[in-house]
Amino acid sequence: MDKDRVKAFTNKVFGDMAGAMSAGLGYVGVKTGLFRAMAGKGALTPAQVASAAGLQPRYVEEWLRGMASAGYLEHDPATDSYRLPDEHAFMVASDETDHFMGGLFCMVPVLMRVAPRVAEAFRTGGGVPFEEYGRDGIEALDLLNRGQYEQRFASHWLKSLPEATARLQAGASALDFGCGAGAVVLALARAFPRSRFTGIDRSGESVAAAERALAAAADSAELALRVRFAAQALADFPAGEQFDFITACDCIHDLAAPVETLRQIRARLKPGGVLMVIEPKAANTVEGNAHAIGTMYYGFSVFHCMTQSLAQGGPGLGTCMGPAHIGELMREAGFGRTEPLDIRSNVLSFYAVRH
Ligand SMILES: C[S@@+](CC[C@H](N)C(=O)[O-])C[C@H]1O[C@@H](n2cnc3c(N)ncnc32)[C@H](O)[C@@H]1O
Repeated sequence: MDKDRVKAFTNKVFGDMAGAMSAGLGYVGVKTGLFRAMAGKGALTPAQVASAAGLQPRYVEEWLRGMASAGYLEHDPATDSYRLPDEHAFMVASDETDHFMGGLFCMVPVLMRVAPRVAEAFRTGGGVPFEEYGRDGIEALDLLNRGQYEQRFASHWLKSLPEATARLQAGASALDFGCGAGAVVLALARAFPRSRFTGIDRSGESVAAAERALAAAADSAELALRVRFAAQALADFPAGEQFDFITACDCIHDLAAPVETLRQIRARLKPGGVLMVIEPKAANTVEGNAHAIGTMYYGFSVFHCMTQSLAQGGPGLGTCMGPAHIGELMREAGFGRTEPLDIRSNVLSFYAVRH
Protein backbone atom coordinates (compact mmCIF):
# COMPACT_ATOMS: atom_id res chain seq x y z
CA MET A 1 0.00 0.00 0.00
CA ASP A 2 1.20 3.50 -0.81
CA LYS A 3 1.39 5.31 2.57
CA ASP A 4 1.44 8.76 0.96
CA ARG A 5 -1.78 7.92 -0.84
CA VAL A 6 -3.37 6.79 2.43
CA LYS A 7 -2.28 10.05 4.06
CA ALA A 8 -3.52 12.16 1.16
CA PHE A 9 -6.86 10.36 1.16
CA THR A 10 -7.20 10.75 4.94
CA ASN A 11 -6.77 14.49 4.48
CA LYS A 12 -9.29 14.46 1.65
CA VAL A 13 -11.92 12.73 3.81
CA PHE A 14 -11.38 15.27 6.59
CA GLY A 15 -11.58 18.03 3.99
CA ASP A 16 -14.86 16.66 2.69
CA MET A 17 -16.30 16.41 6.20
CA ALA A 18 -15.16 19.97 6.80
CA GLY A 19 -16.94 20.99 3.60
CA ALA A 20 -20.13 19.30 4.74
CA MET A 21 -19.94 21.04 8.12
CA SER A 22 -19.13 24.40 6.50
CA ALA A 23 -22.22 24.03 4.30
CA GLY A 24 -24.29 23.27 7.42
CA LEU A 25 -22.85 26.31 9.20
CA GLY A 26 -23.49 28.29 6.01
CA TYR A 27 -27.13 27.20 6.14
CA VAL A 28 -27.37 28.59 9.68
CA GLY A 29 -25.72 31.80 8.50
CA VAL A 30 -28.35 32.30 5.78
CA LYS A 31 -31.35 31.07 7.75
CA THR A 32 -30.69 33.14 10.88
CA GLY A 33 -29.54 36.26 9.04
CA LEU A 34 -26.01 36.09 10.52
CA PHE A 35 -24.31 36.76 7.20
CA ARG A 36 -26.61 39.70 6.52
CA ALA A 37 -26.06 41.03 10.07
CA MET A 38 -22.27 41.04 9.50
CA ALA A 39 -22.22 42.32 5.90
CA GLY A 40 -20.50 45.69 5.46
CA LYS A 41 -19.97 46.14 9.21
CA GLY A 42 -16.23 45.46 9.47
CA ALA A 43 -14.81 43.73 12.54
CA LEU A 44 -17.38 42.78 15.19
CA THR A 45 -17.04 41.04 18.54
CA PRO A 46 -19.21 37.96 19.13
CA ALA A 47 -21.44 40.02 21.44
CA GLN A 48 -21.91 42.66 18.72
CA VAL A 49 -22.77 39.99 16.12
CA ALA A 50 -25.23 38.30 18.49
CA SER A 51 -26.85 41.63 19.25
CA ALA A 52 -27.01 42.72 15.58
CA ALA A 53 -28.60 39.40 14.60
CA GLY A 54 -30.78 39.13 17.73
CA LEU A 55 -29.48 35.63 18.47
CA GLN A 56 -28.20 33.56 21.39
CA PRO A 57 -24.59 34.68 22.19
CA ARG A 58 -23.11 31.24 22.87
CA TYR A 59 -24.43 29.79 19.59
CA VAL A 60 -23.19 32.81 17.68
CA GLU A 61 -19.74 32.59 19.29
CA GLU A 62 -19.29 28.94 18.27
CA TRP A 63 -20.65 29.61 14.77
CA LEU A 64 -18.16 32.48 14.35
CA ARG A 65 -15.28 30.22 15.37
CA GLY A 66 -16.41 27.51 12.96
CA MET A 67 -16.88 29.91 10.05
CA ALA A 68 -13.49 31.52 10.74
CA SER A 69 -11.89 28.08 10.79
CA ALA A 70 -13.61 27.35 7.46
CA GLY A 71 -12.24 30.57 5.90
CA TYR A 72 -15.59 32.32 5.56
CA LEU A 73 -14.71 34.93 8.20
CA GLU A 74 -11.53 36.68 9.25
CA HIS A 75 -10.63 36.57 12.93
CA ASP A 76 -8.49 39.13 14.74
CA PRO A 77 -7.09 37.39 17.84
CA ALA A 78 -5.97 40.71 19.39
CA THR A 79 -9.57 41.96 19.68
CA ASP A 80 -11.36 38.60 19.32
CA SER A 81 -13.39 40.15 16.52
CA TYR A 82 -14.71 38.68 13.28
CA ARG A 83 -15.17 40.21 9.84
CA LEU A 84 -17.16 38.98 6.86
CA PRO A 85 -15.05 40.19 3.89
CA ASP A 86 -17.03 42.21 1.33
CA GLU A 87 -16.19 39.66 -1.36
CA HIS A 88 -17.75 36.89 0.74
CA ALA A 89 -20.74 39.03 1.68
CA PHE A 90 -21.27 39.57 -2.06
CA MET A 91 -21.92 35.83 -2.40
CA VAL A 92 -23.65 34.85 0.85
CA ALA A 93 -25.36 38.00 2.14
CA SER A 94 -26.83 39.01 -1.20
CA ASP A 95 -30.28 37.40 -1.13
CA GLU A 96 -32.43 38.11 -4.19
CA THR A 97 -29.44 38.74 -6.47
CA ASP A 98 -28.06 36.64 -9.31
CA HIS A 99 -24.78 36.12 -7.43
CA PHE A 100 -26.30 34.84 -4.16
CA MET A 101 -24.87 31.41 -3.32
CA GLY A 102 -26.72 30.97 -0.02
CA GLY A 103 -29.52 29.02 -1.74
CA LEU A 104 -27.03 26.14 -2.09
CA PHE A 105 -26.68 25.92 1.69
CA CYS A 106 -30.47 25.70 2.03
CA MET A 107 -30.37 22.47 0.02
CA VAL A 108 -28.25 20.81 2.72
CA PRO A 109 -30.93 20.03 5.35
CA VAL A 110 -33.48 19.26 2.60
CA LEU A 111 -31.17 16.64 1.08
CA MET A 112 -29.64 15.23 4.24
CA ARG A 113 -33.03 14.80 5.92
CA VAL A 114 -33.85 12.04 3.42
CA ALA A 115 -30.38 10.44 3.44
CA PRO A 116 -31.46 7.42 5.57
CA ARG A 117 -34.38 6.76 3.23
CA VAL A 118 -32.20 7.11 0.17
CA ALA A 119 -29.69 4.65 1.63
CA GLU A 120 -32.57 2.24 2.25
CA ALA A 121 -33.76 2.67 -1.36
CA PHE A 122 -30.35 1.41 -2.55
CA ARG A 123 -31.49 -1.96 -1.12
CA THR A 124 -35.21 -1.87 -1.77
CA GLY A 125 -35.52 0.24 -4.93
CA GLY A 126 -38.12 2.98 -5.23
CA GLY A 127 -37.16 6.40 -3.92
CA VAL A 128 -38.39 9.50 -2.13
CA PRO A 129 -41.33 11.25 -3.83
CA PHE A 130 -40.86 14.95 -4.69
CA GLU A 131 -43.74 15.86 -2.34
CA GLU A 132 -41.83 14.51 0.65
CA TYR A 133 -39.10 17.12 0.36
CA GLY A 134 -41.84 19.46 1.54
CA ARG A 135 -42.19 23.19 1.41
CA ASP A 136 -38.56 23.62 2.49
CA GLY A 137 -37.49 21.74 -0.61
CA ILE A 138 -39.55 23.98 -2.89
CA GLU A 139 -38.26 27.11 -1.14
CA ALA A 140 -34.64 25.94 -1.37
CA LEU A 141 -34.98 25.19 -5.11
CA ASP A 142 -36.56 28.60 -5.60
CA LEU A 143 -33.82 30.35 -3.63
CA LEU A 144 -31.20 28.52 -5.67
CA ASN A 145 -32.51 29.73 -9.03
CA ARG A 146 -34.71 32.78 -8.55
CA GLY A 147 -32.04 35.51 -8.53
CA GLN A 148 -30.67 34.33 -11.88
CA TYR A 149 -34.11 33.97 -13.43
CA GLU A 150 -35.09 37.48 -12.32
CA GLN A 151 -31.86 39.21 -13.25
CA ARG A 152 -30.49 37.27 -16.21
CA PHE A 153 -33.24 35.46 -18.10
CA ALA A 154 -34.85 38.27 -20.04
CA SER A 155 -31.90 40.67 -20.05
CA HIS A 156 -29.04 38.25 -20.91
CA TRP A 157 -30.07 34.70 -21.69
CA LEU A 158 -32.77 35.56 -24.22
CA LYS A 159 -30.28 37.58 -26.27
CA SER A 160 -29.24 34.27 -27.78
CA LEU A 161 -32.80 33.69 -29.06
CA PRO A 162 -33.62 36.87 -31.02
CA GLU A 163 -36.59 35.34 -32.88
CA ALA A 164 -38.27 34.20 -29.62
CA THR A 165 -37.55 37.58 -28.06
CA ALA A 166 -39.15 39.36 -31.03
CA ARG A 167 -42.26 37.17 -30.72
CA LEU A 168 -42.50 37.82 -26.98
CA GLN A 169 -42.08 41.55 -27.53
CA ALA A 170 -44.83 41.60 -30.13
CA GLY A 171 -47.23 39.58 -27.96
CA ALA A 172 -47.05 35.81 -27.72
CA SER A 173 -48.19 32.96 -25.54
CA ALA A 174 -45.54 31.24 -23.45
CA LEU A 175 -45.47 28.19 -21.24
CA ASP A 176 -43.04 27.39 -18.44
CA PHE A 177 -43.18 23.64 -17.98
CA GLY A 178 -42.25 22.48 -14.44
CA CYS A 179 -42.56 26.07 -13.22
CA GLY A 180 -41.81 25.38 -9.54
CA ALA A 181 -42.39 28.51 -7.46
CA GLY A 182 -43.06 30.61 -10.58
CA ALA A 183 -39.95 32.78 -10.81
CA VAL A 184 -39.43 32.30 -14.57
CA VAL A 185 -43.05 33.09 -15.41
CA LEU A 186 -43.10 36.23 -13.27
CA ALA A 187 -39.72 37.47 -14.54
CA LEU A 188 -40.66 36.97 -18.21
CA ALA A 189 -44.16 38.37 -17.74
CA ARG A 190 -42.60 41.58 -16.41
CA ALA A 191 -40.12 41.76 -19.27
CA PHE A 192 -42.72 41.16 -22.00
CA PRO A 193 -45.89 43.07 -21.11
CA ARG A 194 -47.67 42.16 -24.36
CA SER A 195 -47.36 38.41 -23.82
CA ARG A 196 -49.35 35.84 -21.84
CA PHE A 197 -47.67 33.29 -19.61
CA THR A 198 -48.72 29.92 -18.24
CA GLY A 199 -46.77 28.00 -15.60
CA ILE A 200 -47.58 24.37 -14.94
CA ASP A 201 -46.15 21.93 -12.48
CA ARG A 202 -47.22 18.49 -11.28
CA SER A 203 -46.53 19.60 -7.70
CA GLY A 204 -49.58 21.33 -6.21
CA GLU A 205 -47.39 22.74 -3.42
CA SER A 206 -45.10 24.36 -6.02
CA VAL A 207 -48.04 25.88 -7.88
CA ALA A 208 -49.40 27.20 -4.57
CA ALA A 209 -45.99 28.83 -3.95
CA ALA A 210 -46.11 30.35 -7.45
CA GLU A 211 -49.60 31.71 -6.81
CA ARG A 212 -48.45 33.20 -3.51
CA ALA A 213 -45.51 34.86 -5.29
CA LEU A 214 -47.90 36.31 -7.87
CA ALA A 215 -50.31 37.57 -5.20
CA ALA A 216 -47.45 39.14 -3.22
CA ALA A 217 -45.96 40.99 -6.21
CA ALA A 218 -46.30 44.77 -6.18
CA ASP A 219 -47.56 44.58 -9.77
CA SER A 220 -49.82 41.57 -9.13
CA ALA A 221 -53.00 43.19 -10.49
CA GLU A 222 -51.45 43.78 -13.90
CA LEU A 223 -49.58 40.46 -13.95
CA ALA A 224 -52.68 38.48 -12.98
CA LEU A 225 -54.32 39.55 -16.26
CA ARG A 226 -51.61 37.74 -18.24
CA VAL A 227 -50.31 35.02 -15.94
CA ARG A 228 -51.83 31.73 -14.85
CA PHE A 229 -50.41 28.86 -12.85
CA ALA A 230 -51.89 25.38 -12.84
CA ALA A 231 -51.12 22.01 -11.29
CA GLN A 232 -52.28 20.47 -14.50
CA ALA A 233 -50.90 17.94 -16.97
CA LEU A 234 -50.30 19.16 -20.52
CA ALA A 235 -52.64 16.43 -21.73
CA ASP A 236 -55.50 18.15 -19.88
CA PHE A 237 -55.07 21.46 -21.72
CA PRO A 238 -57.76 22.24 -24.30
CA ALA A 239 -57.14 20.35 -27.54
CA GLY A 240 -55.19 22.51 -29.96
CA GLU A 241 -53.86 24.99 -27.38
CA GLN A 242 -50.28 25.75 -28.41
CA PHE A 243 -47.52 28.13 -27.34
CA ASP A 244 -44.99 30.27 -29.23
CA PHE A 245 -42.30 29.79 -26.61
CA ILE A 246 -41.88 27.03 -24.05
CA THR A 247 -39.31 26.90 -21.27
CA ALA A 248 -38.30 23.84 -19.26
CA CYS A 249 -35.93 24.96 -16.54
CA ASP A 250 -34.02 22.51 -14.36
CA CYS A 251 -36.71 19.89 -14.82
CA ILE A 252 -36.18 17.61 -17.85
CA HIS A 253 -33.78 15.41 -15.86
CA ASP A 254 -36.47 15.05 -13.16
CA LEU A 255 -39.13 13.62 -15.44
CA ALA A 256 -40.69 10.24 -14.70
CA ALA A 257 -41.64 9.67 -18.36
CA PRO A 258 -39.19 11.92 -20.23
CA VAL A 259 -39.81 10.88 -23.84
CA GLU A 260 -43.58 10.79 -23.53
CA THR A 261 -43.63 14.15 -21.70
CA LEU A 262 -41.32 15.74 -24.26
CA ARG A 263 -43.62 14.48 -27.03
CA GLN A 264 -46.50 16.22 -25.26
CA ILE A 265 -44.43 19.40 -25.00
CA ARG A 266 -43.60 19.17 -28.71
CA ALA A 267 -47.29 18.85 -29.55
CA ARG A 268 -47.91 22.11 -27.64
CA LEU A 269 -45.20 24.06 -29.47
CA LYS A 270 -46.45 26.18 -32.38
CA PRO A 271 -44.73 25.73 -35.75
CA GLY A 272 -41.67 28.01 -35.72
CA GLY A 273 -41.73 28.14 -31.92
CA VAL A 274 -38.81 27.37 -29.63
CA LEU A 275 -38.46 25.16 -26.58
CA MET A 276 -35.72 26.59 -24.38
CA VAL A 277 -34.23 23.98 -22.07
CA ILE A 278 -32.08 24.87 -19.08
CA GLU A 279 -30.30 22.01 -17.36
CA PRO A 280 -27.56 21.71 -14.75
CA LYS A 281 -24.24 22.01 -16.58
CA ALA A 282 -22.66 18.60 -16.91
CA ALA A 283 -20.31 16.81 -19.27
CA ASN A 284 -21.05 13.58 -21.11
CA THR A 285 -18.50 11.60 -19.10
CA VAL A 286 -17.79 10.91 -15.43
CA GLU A 287 -14.27 12.27 -15.96
CA GLY A 288 -15.70 15.48 -17.40
CA ASN A 289 -17.73 15.93 -14.20
CA ALA A 290 -14.80 15.27 -11.84
CA HIS A 291 -14.78 18.71 -10.22
CA ALA A 292 -16.54 20.41 -7.30
CA ILE A 293 -19.69 21.33 -9.24
CA GLY A 294 -19.91 17.82 -10.72
CA THR A 295 -19.58 16.22 -7.28
CA MET A 296 -22.21 18.58 -5.90
CA TYR A 297 -24.56 17.68 -8.76
CA TYR A 298 -24.07 13.92 -8.31
CA GLY A 299 -25.04 14.48 -4.65
CA PHE A 300 -28.13 16.47 -5.69
CA SER A 301 -28.92 13.60 -8.03
CA VAL A 302 -28.69 10.78 -5.48
CA PHE A 303 -30.42 12.71 -2.71
CA HIS A 304 -33.10 14.32 -4.89
CA CYS A 305 -33.33 14.38 -8.68
CA MET A 306 -32.71 10.75 -9.64
CA THR A 307 -34.42 9.51 -6.49
CA GLN A 308 -37.70 11.40 -6.91
CA SER A 309 -37.95 10.13 -10.51
CA LEU A 310 -37.28 6.53 -9.41
CA ALA A 311 -39.96 7.00 -6.71
CA GLN A 312 -42.50 7.56 -9.52
CA GLY A 313 -41.29 4.52 -11.45
CA GLY A 314 -39.29 6.80 -13.78
CA PRO A 315 -35.85 6.17 -15.29
CA GLY A 316 -34.01 8.41 -12.79
CA LEU A 317 -32.08 10.31 -15.46
CA GLY A 318 -30.15 12.16 -12.77
CA THR A 319 -28.83 15.70 -12.49
CA CYS A 320 -25.79 15.23 -14.72
CA MET A 321 -27.29 14.63 -18.14
CA GLY A 322 -24.68 15.77 -20.59
CA PRO A 323 -25.47 17.38 -23.96
CA ALA A 324 -25.26 14.05 -25.81
CA HIS A 325 -27.98 12.51 -23.65
CA ILE A 326 -30.17 15.59 -23.93
CA GLY A 327 -29.84 15.56 -27.74
CA GLU A 328 -30.77 11.87 -27.81
CA LEU A 329 -33.87 12.41 -25.68
CA MET A 330 -35.05 15.26 -27.86
CA ARG A 331 -34.56 13.21 -31.03
CA GLU A 332 -36.50 10.32 -29.49
CA ALA A 333 -39.32 12.70 -28.64
CA GLY A 334 -39.49 13.78 -32.30
CA PHE A 335 -37.73 17.17 -32.15
CA GLY A 336 -35.71 17.97 -35.27
CA ARG A 337 -33.01 20.30 -33.93
CA THR A 338 -31.35 20.69 -30.52
CA GLU A 339 -28.67 23.35 -30.33
CA PRO A 340 -26.62 24.40 -27.33
CA LEU A 341 -26.93 28.13 -26.70
CA ASP A 342 -23.80 30.15 -26.17
CA ILE A 343 -24.64 31.52 -22.72
CA ARG A 344 -21.89 31.71 -20.12
CA SER A 345 -22.61 29.98 -16.81
CA ASN A 346 -20.63 27.84 -14.37
CA VAL A 347 -23.64 25.81 -13.41
CA LEU A 348 -26.22 25.81 -16.20
CA SER A 349 -26.42 24.63 -19.81
CA PHE A 350 -28.88 26.10 -22.28
CA TYR A 351 -30.45 24.58 -25.39
CA ALA A 352 -32.80 25.74 -28.11
CA VAL A 353 -34.98 22.88 -29.32
CA ARG A 354 -37.11 23.16 -32.46
CA HIS A 355 -39.67 21.06 -34.32
C1 LIG B 1 -35.85 21.12 -9.85
S1 LIG B 1 -37.48 21.71 -9.92
C2 LIG B 1 -37.27 23.19 -10.88
C3 LIG B 1 -38.38 24.18 -10.69
C4 LIG B 1 -38.25 25.45 -11.51
N1 LIG B 1 -38.41 25.20 -12.92
C5 LIG B 1 -36.91 26.12 -11.26
O1 LIG B 1 -36.08 26.13 -12.17
O2 LIG B 1 -36.66 26.60 -10.13
C6 LIG B 1 -38.25 20.61 -11.09
C7 LIG B 1 -39.72 20.85 -11.22
O3 LIG B 1 -40.26 20.02 -12.26
C8 LIG B 1 -41.54 19.60 -11.85
N2 LIG B 1 -41.94 18.43 -12.62
C9 LIG B 1 -41.36 17.22 -12.65
N3 LIG B 1 -42.03 16.39 -13.46
C10 LIG B 1 -43.07 17.10 -13.96
C11 LIG B 1 -44.14 16.79 -14.89
N4 LIG B 1 -44.24 15.60 -15.43
N5 LIG B 1 -45.02 17.77 -15.17
C12 LIG B 1 -44.90 18.99 -14.64
N6 LIG B 1 -43.94 19.33 -13.76
C13 LIG B 1 -43.02 18.41 -13.44
C14 LIG B 1 -41.36 19.34 -10.36
O4 LIG B 1 -42.58 19.26 -9.66
C15 LIG B 1 -40.49 20.52 -9.96
O5 LIG B 1 -41.23 21.63 -9.55
